[in-house]
Amino acid sequence: MPEPIRTRRQFLETIGALGAVSIFAGSGETRANFTEGEEKLALEGGTPVRKIALRSQPYGPQFYDDVEKRELLEVLESRYPFRWWGGKSKVLQFEKAYAAHIGVKHAIAVTSGTTALYTAMAALGIGPGDEVILPAWTWYADHDAVVLSGALPVFAEIDESFAIDPKDIEARITPRTKAIVPSHLQGGVADMDAILEIAKRHGLPVVEDCAQCAGGRYKGKYVGSIADIGINSFQLSKTITSGEGGAVTTNDPKLFERALRFHDVGSLRAPYAEEFKGGLPAAFAACNFRMNEFTGAVLKGQLQKLETICSRLRANSRKVRKAIADLPGLKLRKSADPEGDLGSVVFLDLDTKQRRNKFLRAMAAEGVPASPPSGSVILPADPRIEKKSTIHPAWPSFQSPEGKAIRYGREACPRTIGILDRAAGVNMDPNFSDEDLKDVVRAIRKVLPALGPA
Ligand SMILES: Cc1ncc(COP(=O)(O)O)c(C=O)c1O
Repeated sequence: MPEPIRTRRQFLETIGALGAVSIFAGSGETRANFTEGEEKLALEGGTPVRKIALRSQPYGPQFYDDVEKRELLEVLESRYPFRWWGGKSKVLQFEKAYAAHIGVKHAIAVTSGTTALYTAMAALGIGPGDEVILPAWTWYADHDAVVLSGALPVFAEIDESFAIDPKDIEARITPRTKAIVPSHLQGGVADMDAILEIAKRHGLPVVEDCAQCAGGRYKGKYVGSIADIGINSFQLSKTITSGEGGAVTTNDPKLFERALRFHDVGSLRAPYAEEFKGGLPAAFAACNFRMNEFTGAVLKGQLQKLETICSRLRANSRKVRKAIADLPGLKLRKSADPEGDLGSVVFLDLDTKQRRNKFLRAMAAEGVPASPPSGSVILPADPRIEKKSTIHPAWPSFQSPEGKAIRYGREACPRTIGILDRAAGVNMDPNFSDEDLKDVVRAIRKVLPALGPA
């Protein structure tokens, strides 16, 4: 019979939290685990955990080094910054390497995540009269790509993972629904099995928006390789970055051909012209979303850093989660795959907005700022979306009876608003030191118990 757990230390040892704290060993500092409720909050005049506030930085640029420099220089020296001239395209090399990395047949590099989404809609043939189901909390681009395609955005609630609630998708499906777009947000992954099961039953394609989760995995598969088509963004705040940039990924040759054409003036260039001989009989009106060679060069270099960034983020957030796991009343963000999540933010559910706001104030005073969920927008509640603003009064999205009837606004997503109002997160950074992580743990362990019961 194991010994009964009598002391707090025994409890922490049992759940392995001291194992996590031992990452802080060497500093001789285990105090962080035993002070909660005893130390005066900085908010109330106590000594802050840190004098200089902890800040995370955009990940990718912290890893810029000779690899990106060399790739960029090669483009300059080649004097061929356009992807289709000069033979050894960096963009093409990046596309091949990225597709191989995440395990898909095809990747198309484009100018941004937004244009990747628009390209994905075009590949799927989404247009006027169609409806596309989106999470109520994601980035403008998901809504805008649907509207720019002439289709109608229909919002579903998120759940405690901050991703679209599979249970709410089904209620939004109509005979006009043409696609479902789950977003893998803030380093978390959407529950793809449940989403794909619903999609399959209704014969609907799924577009994975991976902009906030490049390098994330769901049940062993990389996001962007799981559904019919995936998109990514390489803008500054993403896992790897060239400042701006995006990608479309798919295993489906028809979607690939349509996406290729849409991103490049409707055309197919070598090496694809040969591959798709006998494909689409004619092109359609399209865009130019081609990536340039400088961007491709940086991304080719950044891709080599992707796994390092992801594994450091995962390790850091795991250490923090483990070292706070015993806190009474602790509720962490739900995860569809704790192993695959990037762990870019450690989110807590603080039960009420008022309690969350006090947590934010107290953490800021401790020098370990926490923030409400960010990087996305509660789309139905956004004024321009609530007003159904478009670039032309006769825009097709809102001309149909359904488009006229649909009502957005806060009333359209009360559960989403409630979940986000209760949440606060501490951003991780791949270069946080053990001291930094120890401060995160100390601050949470100091502040959370001081909030009192919900
Ligand atoms: C979820 C999500 N989708 C799409 C995008 C659009 O990406 P981009 O900024 O590269 O256009 C973003 C950008 O922040 C995003 O967060």
